[in-house]
Amino acid sequence: MRPRILIRLFTACLLVLGALFIFRGFLAQSETPQTHTPQATPAPIYNPYPPGILPADLNAEIARVLREIDVIEERAIERWHNLTPPVLTGQPPILKDTGTEAVETLGELMQYDKRISPLRNQACASCHMPYVAFSGPIPSVNLTMIAYPGTVHFRAGKRQAQRYTYAPFFPVLQYNETQGLFFGGNFWDSRATGYLLRNPDAHQSQGPPVDTQEMGFPDTACITFRLSRSVYRPLFELVWGRGAFDIAFPPDTEQICETPGRPHPVKRCL
Ligand code: HEC
Repeated sequence: MRPRILIRLFTACLLVLGALFIFRGFLAQSETPQTHTPQATPAPIYNPYPPGILPADLNAEIARVLREIDVIEERAIERWHNLTPPVLTGQPPILKDTGTEAVETLGELMQYDKRISPLRNQACASCHMPYVAFSGPIPSVNLTMIAYPGTVHFRAGKRQAQRYTYAPFFPVLQYNETQGLFFGGNFWDSRATGYLLRNPDAHQSQGPPVDTQEMGFPDTACITFRLSRSVYRPLFELVWGRGAFDIAFPPDTEQICETPGRPHPVKRCL
C-alpha cells in the first residue's frame, strides 16, 4: 500500500507543480503587454510605404539640409543688419534707395525660415534649394519617393518639388487662341492660376504653410503669428507697414500653431 500512496502523492505533486508552471507561464504571457504601455513605446513614425521607398539616409539628409538652411538664414540676418535702411517717401509711398534690397532680404529671410512650420523643422527651402535650381536637395529622395517629406515624418507631398527660378515671372494662366495652347500659371499643371491675386506665384505661395503634407500649420494665421515673433520683425514692418502685426493673438496661439494640421482624406490642391 505505501509505495502506491507515495506514487499517488508524487503524481499529485507533479500535477500541482505542472499546473503551477503552466499558470505562471500564462501569467507571464498576460503580463507581457502591460509592461509595454503606450507611454513606454514612442509613437510610431508614419510609414505606409513599401520597403525600400524611404531612403536609409533620409533623417541624416533632412538634418544636413536644415543645417544648410540655418547657415543661409544667418547670412540673410547679417545682410539685413548691414543694410542701410531705405527712405520712406512720396505719395503713394515708396521705399527709396535700398527698398528693393530690403524686399529681397525679407524674401530670403522668409524662404529659409524653418519656424514657418509647426515643428520648426521645415522651410520653403527644404524642398526648394538654390544649388538644385530651387528643387529638392536630397538625391536619395529624388531617386526613390520623389515627393518630399513634410513637417510630420514621413507624410510626403505628391510630386517632385518644382524649380521656381522663373516662376515669379509667369503670367496669369491664359489660353492663346492662335497657338491653341495654355500659357502661365504656376505648378506642373498650372492650377495656381493667379486669377485672384493677379500673380500665380503669390497664389501658389499661400499653399505650403497650411498643406498638411508640407509645412502643415493648422491655420494661415499661424504664419503671421510666427512672423510677429521672429527676429526680423522690424524688417517686415519696414516693408509692409507698422501696423502689420497689430493683432491681439489669444494666449494659446503658440500651442495651436505648434500642432500640425490633420491630414485630409482628399488632398487640398495648393
Ligand atoms: C514639402 C515640400 C515643399 C515645401 C516645404 C514647399 N514646396 Fe513649393 N513645391 C513643392 C512641390 C511638390 C511643387 C509642385 C507641386 C505641383 O505641381 O503639384 C511646388 C511648387 C512650387 C511653386 C511653383 C513653381 C512653378 O514653376 O510653377 C512655387 C512658386 C513654390 N512651390 C513655392 C514655395 C514656397 C514659397 C514655399 C514656402 C512657403 C514652398 N514652395 C514650400 C514642394 C514644396
